[in-house]
Amino acid sequence: MRILVTGAGGMLGRDVVRAAEFVNHEVIALEHSDLDVTDAPRVQRAVTRAAPDAVINCAAWTDVDGAEANPRPAERLNATAAGTVAAAAAYVGAPVVHPSTDYVFDGESRRPYIESDTPHPLSVYGATKLAGEHQVAAANPQHFVVRSSWLFGANGRNFVETMLRLGRELGEVVVVRDQVGCPTYTGHLADALVRLLDGDDHGLHHIAAGGACSWFEFAVEIFEQAGVECRTLSCTTEEFPRPARRPAYSVLGTERDYAFYLPDWQNGLRSYLAERAVAR
Ligand SMILES: NC(=O)c1ccc[n+]([C@@H]2O[C@H](COP(=O)([O-])OP(=O)(O)OC[C@H]3O[C@@H](n4cnc5c(N)ncnc54)[C@H](OP(=O)(O)O)[C@@H]3O)[C@@H](O)[C@H]2O)c1
Repeated sequence: MRILVTGAGGMLGRDVVRAAEFVNHEVIALEHSDLDVTDAPRVQRAVTRAAPDAVINCAAWTDVDGAEANPRPAERLNATAAGTVAAAAAYVGAPVVHPSTDYVFDGESRRPYIESDTPHPLSVYGATKLAGEHQVAAANPQHFVVRSSWLFGANGRNFVETMLRLGRELGEVVVVRDQVGCPTYTGHLADALVRLLDGDDHGLHHIAAGGACSWFEFAVEIFEQAGVECRTLSCTTEEFPRPARRPAYSVLGTERDYAFYLPDWQNGLRSYLAERAVAR
């Protein structure tokens, strides 16, 4: 299969390229500098010229706090451009895989969110991603919209790296304990995104790591697995305010008959730390 990947230089994008190549797909990897997905005519030309069998759109505005002050560019990228990419794929008869986020939910639930639950984003980022889901679905009947959660991977700034840096520099960190989610290793998610294309189970999918934890519990596990001595203290979201509101609980479950179950988050962290050790 020939797969065109947009946003191919990002944290998830790089792992998607690697996962697709690993199973011998032909990959056209377009980074931001190769293709600006907000430039609709260029997107149309690039996709038509490449004539891919599938498109995976990893381009996105992912600065959750930054989106609060920049709603228009975030909307242009996460919603309008998502629709443009999906439509260009539809034009050449190709399915589109479009990652989305647990931040489309408000966190009021006390059980894992399933695909049919009603979204209610608390932030501009969440609202733009939800608008993107709708635009993708409207533009391409062969869509796989995949909500995932709390990503960390080797090719991007992420919570694990932040914790390890602060832990080593300061020997003490304070982390919020009242936000619970599923920290998901991009290596595991990328494999699932590529494997989705083997079927035609179109629509909305929740695919995230197994289990759930708070950011505080995640930090404790990071130091434990990495063998870093660090005093880990907890605080509430109220004590550590950020520009964007986050859901207190955004664990993703699925109601799909043929669902993708990823390894649990501790396993994802182990894989990440192993990959990181090899790279150094
Ligand atoms: N990170 C998370 O915790 C998380 C959680 C759930 C879902 N997701 C979703 O997962 C997907 C991938 O996220 P990620 O964590 O891999 O983010 P990322 O590392 O920020 O990757 C996004 C990529 O998009 C590129 N990009 C930005 N503007 C672009 C444009 N106009 N045209 C083309 N490319 C552009 C960026 O390139 P430059 O950096 O060069 O601008 C970057 O390479 C997103 O849809 C995100 O919403 C992320």
